[in-house]
Amino acid sequence: MSTTHPTGGDVPPEAWSGVHRGPLRAGEWVRLVDGKGRKHNICLEPGKTFHTNRGGMSHDDLIGREEGFTVTSTSGGEYLVFRPLLSEFVVSMPRGAAVVYPKDAAQIVAMADIFPGADVVEAGVGSGALTCSLLRAVGPHGKLTSYERREEFADVARRNVTQFFGAPEGETHPAWSLRLGDLAEELPASGERYDRVILDMLAPWECLDATADALRPGGIVCAYVATTTQLSRFMETVRLHGGFTEPQAWESLVRDWHVEGLAVRPGHKMIGHTAFLVTARRMAPGQVAPLKRRRPAPGAYGPDYTGPRAPEAVDEPETSE
Ligand SMILES: C[S@@+](CC[C@H](N)C(=O)[O-])C[C@H]1O[C@@H](n2cnc3c(N)ncnc32)[C@H](O)[C@@H]1O
Repeated sequence: MSTTHPTGGDVPPEAWSGVHRGPLRAGEWVRLVDGKGRKHNICLEPGKTFHTNRGGMSHDDLIGREEGFTVTSTSGGEYLVFRPLLSEFVVSMPRGAAVVYPKDAAQIVAMADIFPGADVVEAGVGSGALTCSLLRAVGPHGKLTSYERREEFADVARRNVTQFFGAPEGETHPAWSLRLGDLAEELPASGERYDRVILDMLAPWECLDATADALRPGGIVCAYVATTTQLSRFMETVRLHGGFTEPQAWESLVRDWHVEGLAVRPGHKMIGHTAFLVTARRMAPGQVAPLKRRRPAPGAYGPDYTGPRAPEAVDEPETSE
């Protein structure tokens, strides 16, 4: 008779996935969801009680069970128990700065083509939400260097990332280096080269020269910016630099749906806007991408425009019918 556990063994620790299989263990985080959808994340500790507004619940009643069950508190409150997914963890973890939401982290991983073994640099690390997705994508054989200029945010990120990947005390994901400092100054000083540079900060254009010098030919810069003025300034700075392909900008909108019999309609709640994403690829040294001959939209670079401006943006003068 097979002695293998019905759900298989645990995920190999050397995969650094941040995921466990099998019975819940002491020291693990679980997520309890009540009938109204309220969520509580708790760290399982033998002998401890979780207090709810509907009585208590012993952690010992959870430890040793397979996740995906319902537990009842002493006053009859019902809670669904699962291990948190990465997408759930990042929106409930303690925050310093605003986080990259899972819908955007997924876009960044896909469209900036983050691959296992990649050398990636990001700034700023903020609360470490995007860091978790990037580490998942590069894996233990990749390299992720995260710059953060505010020490208090770096501390929050370190705790969050360490909690998610479950590293032993004093250790962290083997691909990760967290560096305190400004990417625009520290990255050139490091002399390191990267495949991908991800910028999530107020002024990513200030980091573009450092990014261009650090990127290998064919590498990708990806910026995540919240406002249209940031988007414009970053795009024009990329064009003006000349060592990148024409930048692409987009945003993603995700809408949930209510589906019940014939009542099928969009959900009432939607995150209308998070941020815009921009990507561009690094040309080889000395190479410039063919100019995109484009006629600027009327007024695009008119007297009110004060930002950077690539010369080719005006090489076809505006004409009227
Ligand atoms: C919006 S937060 C980043 C959130 C993070 N990506 C996450 O998902 O949790 C922006 C962070 O960038 C940092 N920052 C801004 N400019 C920077 C720079 N040039 N170098 C390093 N960090 C920078 C800020 O201190 C702030 O913590």
